[in-house]
Amino acid sequence: MQTAKRMNNLKTDIFTEMGKIVEEVRDKWEQIIDLGIGSPDRSPAEHVIKCLLDGVANPANYRYTSIRGLPELREAVANWYQRRFGVELNPETEIISLMGSQEGLALLPQVFLDPGDIALIPDPCYPIYRIATELAGGVVYPLPLTAENDFLPDFSRVDLQIADRAKLMILNYPNNPIACTAPPEFFEEVVNFARKHNIVVCHDAAYTELAFDGYRPSSFLEIPGAKEVGIEFHSLSKTYNFAGCRLAFAVGNPELIEALARLRSNTNYGVFTPIQLAGAAALNGPQDVVNENVLSYQRRRDILVDGLRALGWKIAKPKATMFVWAPIPDNYENSTDFAVDLIRRAGVVVIPGSAFGNLGDRYVRFGIVAPEEQLLEAIERIKNLHLFS
Ligand SMILES: Cc1ncc(COP(=O)(O)O)c(C=O)c1O
Repeated sequence: MQTAKRMNNLKTDIFTEMGKIVEEVRDKWEQIIDLGIGSPDRSPAEHVIKCLLDGVANPANYRYTSIRGLPELREAVANWYQRRFGVELNPETEIISLMGSQEGLALLPQVFLDPGDIALIPDPCYPIYRIATELAGGVVYPLPLTAENDFLPDFSRVDLQIADRAKLMILNYPNNPIACTAPPEFFEEVVNFARKHNIVVCHDAAYTELAFDGYRPSSFLEIPGAKEVGIEFHSLSKTYNFAGCRLAFAVGNPELIEALARLRSNTNYGVFTPIQLAGAAALNGPQDVVNENVLSYQRRRDILVDGLRALGWKIAKPKATMFVWAPIPDNYENSTDFAVDLIRRAGVVVIPGSAFGNLGDRYVRFGIVAPEEQLLEAIERIKNLHLFS
């Protein structure tokens, strides 16, 4: 069987690759500590599960649903954006629900790029930005995220001709995989740059609610003029431990939302009604789960980062997300060698930074998605490797 040429650039995903190494060593370890995929290990609130159950029990809820989403959900999204960020959204025209932000991110380049068009994509980045751009026939122009520039793109270094030709830019703060954050002034710069060069901006805001020590990340749409140039994705996956239910939304510029809705209406249907109703209940109802998530991830972050620092590992303490981005020890050739070694010699799974882009290759990403005892055990096992002594 011959697959299309566009399939040639698609590798088996990194979680499957790491899974193969895990199988090789499974017998050696009583427990493999999996800090790989960023899948929340905590549950949604009880009232959200109850709403889902009630919705599933109602025979009227099994029809196709409209592409933009139920009015109840869009209303809930608009109210949440107003409460959380002070951003006004018109539920009719400025909001669309999605089967996870991954669905929207996968469609986005097809909406805005013709073959050969340029998209400005951070390196490293959440992989779908690059993959979806290439699947649409677009050309990725990397925006390097380096420690020297606080892991923010330096727009003054983007070639002017490239900037003028670029049609789309995707950004993500708080960031996966780097776990870094962006100040509101950076978003102002983004708006100015996008206006000047006529670039559609998509800000992927999956982690705004998982922030620590009282820090409250902003929405890109808080910046005056942002709605003229872009949209923002937000997902219920991490905020409300809803990842398997597949519910997210894109909000912002009505023309861009309309274009996304048009493509989506030709390729899909709306989200299952009970999931949308449960999502609305999550957004409207008590936010205890979100607060508990924050405290739990914050404690885990402290345990992991403090524990690894005590071994001599120089690691930044992130202000947000469910990840820790750690430089690999100097004596390793690359991030894959190091991640494979961690599985083989410590039974600990992390993701090699190269999975997120070339500039990730001297880092690995820890997901703080395991209970505290497992994080302590992981530190103990890593200690025995004497990586920094
Ligand atoms: C930055 C970022 N964007 C989007 C997603 C996809 O989330 P969803 O479950 O809404 O598709 C993830 C999931 O890990 C992510 O880290």
